[in-house]
Amino acid sequence: MCPPEHFGVLYEINPWMHREVLVDADAARQQWENLKATLEQAGAHVEVLPPARDLPDLVFTANAGVVNGSQFVPSRFMHPERRGEVPHYVAWFEERGFTVDWLPDHVHHEGAGDALPFGSVLLSGYRFRSDAASHAYLSRLTGAAVRSVELADERLYHLDLTFCPLDERRAMVAPEGWDRYGRRVVEALVPELLVLDTDQTLAFCANSVVVNSTVVMPSCPPPVGRQLEACGFDVVVCNVDEFLKAGGACRCLTLALDVTLGPQGAR
Ligand code: ARG
Repeated sequence: MCPPEHFGVLYEINPWMHREVLVDADAARQQWENLKATLEQAGAHVEVLPPARDLPDLVFTANAGVVNGSQFVPSRFMHPERRGEVPHYVAWFEERGFTVDWLPDHVHHEGAGDALPFGSVLLSGYRFRSDAASHAYLSRLTGAAVRSVELADERLYHLDLTFCPLDERRAMVAPEGWDRYGRRVVEALVPELLVLDTDQTLAFCANSVVVNSTVVMPSCPPPVGRQLEACGFDVVVCNVDEFLKAGGACRCLTLALDVTLGPQGAR
């Protein structure tokens, strides 16, 4: 995670961002601290990336890149506004001994925001921020089997706004965010789907962080909470309103480091 010292809405690169909307810096700090404490309470160990001036979206570390064991594949950001973040992420991973492997510079891919492991497969979204062409390179670099899902709604511009793996069998999903083929890909991959409706989807319910059996959510309508609890999860809501102004919620504010992707050909 990266603290929101320099967070703000200073440009508009997704439909949620409006430069005239001011961020309350104190509230953002409080919400971020509360999210961090909640994740720690659930059993996570949180590493902190130093904030950097003029990079208001550096808080959204999900977009740093793809982590695979001790390998780090940095993002190739679609928008120039975010490209200055890359050296900060790379330095952090290099200092910790990760091997850094680069995607070619002519493709776009926005890291864990658009690539989430489920079982032995890496599910990756494309269209608004990542190119379909990046998936083959990602697979070649990581050795993982990558399945592609085309995103269909600009408001749900990253895969992590529509897909939240819960355990080996289940995922919280927002099929409205995918094209017809993408829906079929997910249905074939995930045995049990917890399907979000439009309001739940646009409240970023899928942008949740799962730590052991705790699901940390930006908001949780009662029907979603009941379903998660019936599956044995504890739900904790962390208000991250200030970050919603930039089009991001709980999961966007984190990057899982304990990820090892399955090898190609595994099931
Ligand atoms: N303002 C950021 C952007 O538009 C938000 C990133 C949200 N991250 C995510 N993983 N969905 O790039």
